[in-house]
Amino acid sequence: MALIEFEHVYKRYPGSANAAVDDLNLHIETGEFLTLLGPSGSGKTSTLMLLAGFEAPSAGFIRLDGKSIESLPPHLRNMGVVFQSYSLFPHMTVAENVAFPLSVRKVPATDIATKVSAALAKVHLESFAQRKPNQLSGGQQQRVALARALVFEPRVVLMDEPLSALDKKLREEMQLEIRRLHRELGVTMVFVTHDQSEAMTLSDRVAVFNQGRIEQLASPQVLYDSPANPFVASFLGDNNMVSATLEASETPAKEKGTIKVRTTGGQSLYACSRNSGLTGSDSLTLCVRPEFLQVAADRASLTTHNCLNGTLLDLIHQGDHWRLVARLNDVGKEDATEAQWFAKINPGALPQGLVVGQNLCLGFRPEDAWIF
Ligand SMILES: Nc1ncnc2c1ncn2[C@@H]1O[C@H](COP(=O)(O)OP(=O)(O)OP(=O)(O)O)[C@@H](O)[C@H]1O
Ligand SMILES: [Mg+2]
Repeated sequence: MALIEFEHVYKRYPGSANAAVDDLNLHIETGEFLTLLGPSGSGKTSTLMLLAGFEAPSAGFIRLDGKSIESLPPHLRNMGVVFQSYSLFPHMTVAENVAFPLSVRKVPATDIATKVSAALAKVHLESFAQRKPNQLSGGQQQRVALARALVFEPRVVLMDEPLSALDKKLREEMQLEIRRLHRELGVTMVFVTHDQSEAMTLSDRVAVFNQGRIEQLASPQVLYDSPANPFVASFLGDNNMVSATLEASETPAKEKGTIKVRTTGGQSLYACSRNSGLTGSDSLTLCVRPEFLQVAADRASLTTHNCLNGTLLDLIHQGDHWRLVARLNDVGKEDATEAQWFAKINPGALPQGLVVGQNLCLGFRPEDAWIF
């Protein structure tokens, strides 16, 4: 049995037309690190607030250990919470902040001192116990918030963008720290972010949210290698897209397992299909990740039949790779997102003498492209 179950959960805020959480079904296993990832307004915080008990669902069930908790107040749910802004009490010392959840729960004073020291040790802040929050850096404040969420040994820790106020280096340090704590404590963690690399670093599984619904729920690797749809493909990692229709479901033997499609610009391409039973009237999207693109000045230099013609718009050195920006020549001008393609090319694989404005071929192997 899952530790936490959402069953057909809806949340509609008073006065708003759309549901912030729209028929959510989600099981969270004991001890797992689950991340809710999605664009702004997709319902991540609302889902966390429903779980913490700060909001009530408009419909549906939320269960902890198989028991309904919709009417259980937050402090009886045994969940630690860390928010985006540090939300420490400014007039209290670090130790007093961390002790707060224990005093609320009427833990004896002698136990409080021991538990507070242990919680501060977990986040490496033992020597900061007597400081006030404004005498700490952002990262240290967020570690205090984490200690405060862990001090009463909750079954579940909920974190809503806890690292978003930190700079990149500190954020990455804290990600490793949270990973370590998760491993050491074995506590179930539910984490909210709209940063895909953060989600991939931390999570056992990621739920990709869009408009109050989960588009796909899987491990980071599965989401990246086998996205369920173009939204997931574009939200996790970079992705190039072009519209197409089915040209033939019969393919030559050497392109086995793939289907042949025709872009709106009239190019024939082979790619893997997610769906069986496609028909000629389906409108399809072909997706390729930038790291799978080959670029060449002429078609003959590609190692694949698949070729889209483009114009080189920009060539950017990114240290460990080159980022090429190209505009597809045969795509309708009205669709700017499709017309612009990106390629990620290793320094050694960059053709010599490319100049901005020239024509080039973008190639990819059928097995590296998906049809949705
Ligand atoms: N208290 C509220 N009253 C009315 N509408 C709300 C309230 N809180 C959130 N919403 C709406 O519900 C939707 C989902 O919001 P939510 O805060 O859950 O999104 P989110 O995924 O956390 O976004 P972000 O990444 O910006 O934090 C949004 O359209 C938002 O405007
Ligand atoms: Mg939010």
